[in-house]
Amino acid sequence: MSNIAIHIEHLSKRYRQADQLAVSNVSITIQAGEIFGLLGPNGAGKTTLISMLCGLIKPTEGRFTIQGFTYSSSARKLKSAIGVVPQDFAIYPSLTAEENLLYFGSMYGLSGKLLTSEVHYALNSLGLYEHRAKRVETFSGGMKRRINLLAAVLHKPSVLFLDEPTVGVDVHSKQAIIDYLHMLNAAGTTIVYTSHHLLEAQEFCTRVGIIESGQLWKIGTPSKLIAEVNDARNLEDVFIYLTGKGFRDV
Ligand SMILES: Nc1ncnc2c1ncn2[C@@H]1O[C@H](COP(=O)(O)OP(=O)(O)OP(=O)(O)O)[C@@H](O)[C@H]1O
Ligand SMILES: [Mg+2]
Repeated sequence: MSNIAIHIEHLSKRYRQADQLAVSNVSITIQAGEIFGLLGPNGAGKTTLISMLCGLIKPTEGRFTIQGFTYSSSARKLKSAIGVVPQDFAIYPSLTAEENLLYFGSMYGLSGKLLTSEVHYALNSLGLYEHRAKRVETFSGGMKRRINLLAAVLHKPSVLFLDEPTVGVDVHSKQAIIDYLHMLNAAGTTIVYTSHHLLEAQEFCTRVGIIESGQLWKIGTPSKLIAEVNDARNLEDVFIYLTGKGFRDV
């Protein structure tokens, strides 16, 4: 049996009326159980690539499978195999944390006692149980990021996509999120995440792809990419070598 979680071939996206490709001829194969980091500066094409994989926008060219499924032939199976944590919050601000998760869990077909126990387990695992009755609009940025993540995993997806899950959060929340993702990965979840934080990704990822101007420039384990560049101590040095510049700030 194949262990390939995601197989992407020559994927491109040109937005309507755009001159340039937002994603240009990207091919990547991701094995089940990997933590894959898609790294690049603002406007590199990270969200566009992940949005195609999540079925939110259609590719201009190319194809991909996730867990062997495609949107054209097995959309329902594919959608239940993936979890999506978007860059912008997908939660309802005027609902409580618990109400949000009950809603998202029921969208994925959970109900009754199983739904309630999954929601409580999830709230507990990211330190939000005691805040379950508070409206999400009163939450800090870090707490919103955590609930945004939990909403995507209640159905236990095989592949989890996260777009900038640690942006704008303090060190405590960031570590809680990373630890939680490690736990999901240890239980078998394949993780694909985008980030600006090269040093975080260097620690967290089994493999990374560096994307700039829609093109995949480099792909490999963090240690391989670092070893390939003379005197590079970390992925930041690799990026500066490749592009002649550091990552722009968010
Ligand atoms: N809906 C859209 N219509 C037209 N152009 C778009 C649209 N969304 C993104 N773009 C353009 O596509 C390119 C890639 O954008 P994308 O949002 O994928 O980058 P990103 O790497 O996710 O950036 P960031 O780090 O800021 O989130 C950019 O040039 C952006 O301006
Ligand atoms: Mg983005």
